[in-house]
Amino acid sequence: MFALRNTVSNIFQKRAFSASASQATKVAVLGAAGGIGQPLSLLLKLNNKVSDLALYDIRGAPGVAADISHINTDSKVAGYNPTPEGIRDALTGAEIVVIPAGVPRKPGMTRDDLFNTNASIVRDLAKACAEHCPEAKLLIISNPVNSTVPIVSEVFKAAGKYDPKKLFGVTTLDIVRASRFISQVKSTDPAAEVVPVVGGHSGVTIVPILSQTSHPDISGEARDALVNRIQFGGDEVVKAKDGAGSATLSMAFAGARFADSLLKAAEGQEVVECTFVESPLYAKEGVDFFASKVTLGKEGVKEIHPVGQINEYETELLKACLNDLKKNIQKGRDFVKSN
Ligand code: NAI
Repeated sequence: MFALRNTVSNIFQKRAFSASASQATKVAVLGAAGGIGQPLSLLLKLNNKVSDLALYDIRGAPGVAADISHINTDSKVAGYNPTPEGIRDALTGAEIVVIPAGVPRKPGMTRDDLFNTNASIVRDLAKACAEHCPEAKLLIISNPVNSTVPIVSEVFKAAGKYDPKKLFGVTTLDIVRASRFISQVKSTDPAAEVVPVVGGHSGVTIVPILSQTSHPDISGEARDALVNRIQFGGDEVVKAKDGAGSATLSMAFAGARFADSLLKAAEGQEVVECTFVESPLYAKEGVDFFASKVTLGKEGVKEIHPVGQINEYETELLKACLNDLKKNIQKGRDFVKSN
């Protein structure tokens, strides 16, 4: 079942202020003092499946941790400074590491424009993860996700620690946006709207499969406008923030939802999310990372679902996606090999 737990109330449904986590689960956030990192850490503090929250950043993590630690849920929160001991202690024992470290877009920038800065940040953090928590599930938020995820895989391969079942590019914001935007077109409850979004996480690599929703009738200009809004929704936020960054609050919500899905899966529930993982679906076309519906299990990726039946229009979208995605993935790989 592709169940979308799409509302804040659902995320917090099982929260009890005095409840303790059902099992000890340490979650680390790298980039925790940033625009995404702070609200994401706050939402993770409200998740009773988290027993320990480790907040790491190159600046400001202890302050964020002190602030969040006063919230009356049972988990422990600690902030870590950018020292070898700081990153080691933040990561040791972590079952989940969420990485929103890096710079966000400014108006006029594509996600690929962030590559030069974020590639080395993600590479170095991945090295630290491979050293201190090689078994952890890694959730990559830092853009460009289409390239940063392959970067992490190459780093882990070089360290002899790679498990493709445990590496995820977080594309949940595309899913969240798609269900919200389609509900606005159709005047429906967004929580009830399920829109698979496959491919990657930037521009035309984002492929919403509207034919598999409860509104396959959307066509013509309305369909084109909706698809464009889902693909380029991030630009609306970048423009509105006018130089002050990109989506942070909605991204924190989406990241917290994806982390919650993995925590549920670790407890034995089967959860399906669209996410960008190493995938056999288009490997023959030279695209070996791809976002599609994935059943999550205790070990991470349990089953990768094919895209399924799509119409002619979506076939064209997919073609454009694969073309770009292939280059984005290669760019990530080449970076690790040559740096
Ligand atoms: P931000 O600039 O507000 O925060 C980034 C944080 O990372 C800062 O606190 C900074 O000190 C920290 N940082 C930088 N280098 C670091 C390092 N080596 N180790 C640890 N921390 C480090 O940026 P924001 O808005 O939080 O965005 C973060 C990233 O998330 C950007 O790359 C952005 O493009 C991406 N993003 C991804 C989305 C997705 O759907 N996957 C959606 C929106 C943004």
